Amino acid sequence: MVAVLRPPTIPITEIEQSAFCRTDDDLSARSLEDEFDAGVRWQKLPLGYMRMKPDELDDRIAKARARLGDRVVILGHHYQRDEVIKYADFRGDSYKLSQLAASQESAESIIFCGVHFMAETADILSSPDQKVILPNLTAGCSMSDMARIDDVLDCWDDLQDVLGDESVVVPITYMNSTAAIKAMCGRNGGIVCTSSNAAATFEWALARGEKILFLPDQHLGRNTALKFGIELDKMIVWNPFKPLGGNTEQQVRDAKMVLWKGHCSVHTRFTVEQIAQAREKFPDVHVVVHPECTMEAVQAADSNGSTEYIRALVSDAPAGSVIAVGTEISMVNRLAAENPDKKVFCLDSVVCPCSTMYRIHPAYLSWVLDGLNEGVVVNQISVEDEIAEQARIALDRMLAVA
Ligand code: 13P
Ligand code: SF4
Repeated sequence: MVAVLRPPTIPITEIEQSAFCRTDDDLSARSLEDEFDAGVRWQKLPLGYMRMKPDELDDRIAKARARLGDRVVILGHHYQRDEVIKYADFRGDSYKLSQLAASQESAESIIFCGVHFMAETADILSSPDQKVILPNLTAGCSMSDMARIDDVLDCWDDLQDVLGDESVVVPITYMNSTAAIKAMCGRNGGIVCTSSNAAATFEWALARGEKILFLPDQHLGRNTALKFGIELDKMIVWNPFKPLGGNTEQQVRDAKMVLWKGHCSVHTRFTVEQIAQAREKFPDVHVVVHPECTMEAVQAADSNGSTEYIRALVSDAPAGSVIAVGTEISMVNRLAAENPDKKVFCLDSVVCPCSTMYRIHPAYLSWVLDGLNEGVVVNQISVEDEIAEQARIALDRMLAVA
């Protein structure tokens, strides 16, 4: 018998993670040709766009955007670069942006300045005749890449084999996953969650089953389970590269939570030591982190929440507040600039953007806008009908409970 091996996944998004880490604090866009000098492998563009200087691009985007009027709506995630987010009609966290994608019925096209799983979700939730565009097709998410559908299906089968009728497992997938994984949750009585509604989806799941399979971020899963009083010894981590995820059958039977072995390379950089240093330097500091951070960092912080939660916390804080933030640097820099009466800084002194959010360079936005003005849809994200239908079930459950 010939063994059929799956092609290996090359985690290029992780390798690239440090390409734009700087100590000089300057992340302003350069021409795309100059940024490619960092050795990155992004989507190729016509040479004219590669060579355009930032000012030229800015001018071109503004004109192309104005010509399109309300035929297009631009959604921007908080982690986008300043040069891109300034053109977003709406900004938000992934939950808010998914609601917006579902409600922009009059726009012919939705340009999603974010990452691939967000654009897929927008395609599933928007009307069938709307087109969703991701300006750079290589803008993925290293965490999402850590859960391949084949491995997830193997895990699901293994859990059913071990547990049989003994207990019901409810799958919850974080929004940061492929449409195929959302569809698997839709088919199997599961739900999607984001960092802003994970607790509500846990409540929903625990009312329907004894165990939760949480994909693909072990940290968000663990941090949320702890809020529900689930003890650490009732949580197992599922490593897709090991038989039974690296667990014994007994461990699977005893577990309440099965946490997929995935993580965010940006948020796992934040540490308890950084938090201690911030407190030493500024005794009145409020430390807020994203729940993709490790359990230790989340517990050492004063609060945690989604990017929209962090944005609101900083903007609602009284003048003079000192706030240390554990999330992506483009967002932290923007919060600092928008709140000059407060001291807002990133917990990590080395400036590293989310390398995949960063792939939406203004040249790509300019290219797709020009395309629309010429009647050409560039980089459309289109989820296969059957997958979209099943994924929608899990997304609708989230929208109903959140
Ligand atoms: P939010 O839903 O909080 O915006 O998080 C999305 C994300 O990818 C954070 O890394
Ligand atoms: Fe993915 Fe982390 Fe980037 Fe969010 S910050 S898009 S989880 S790699």
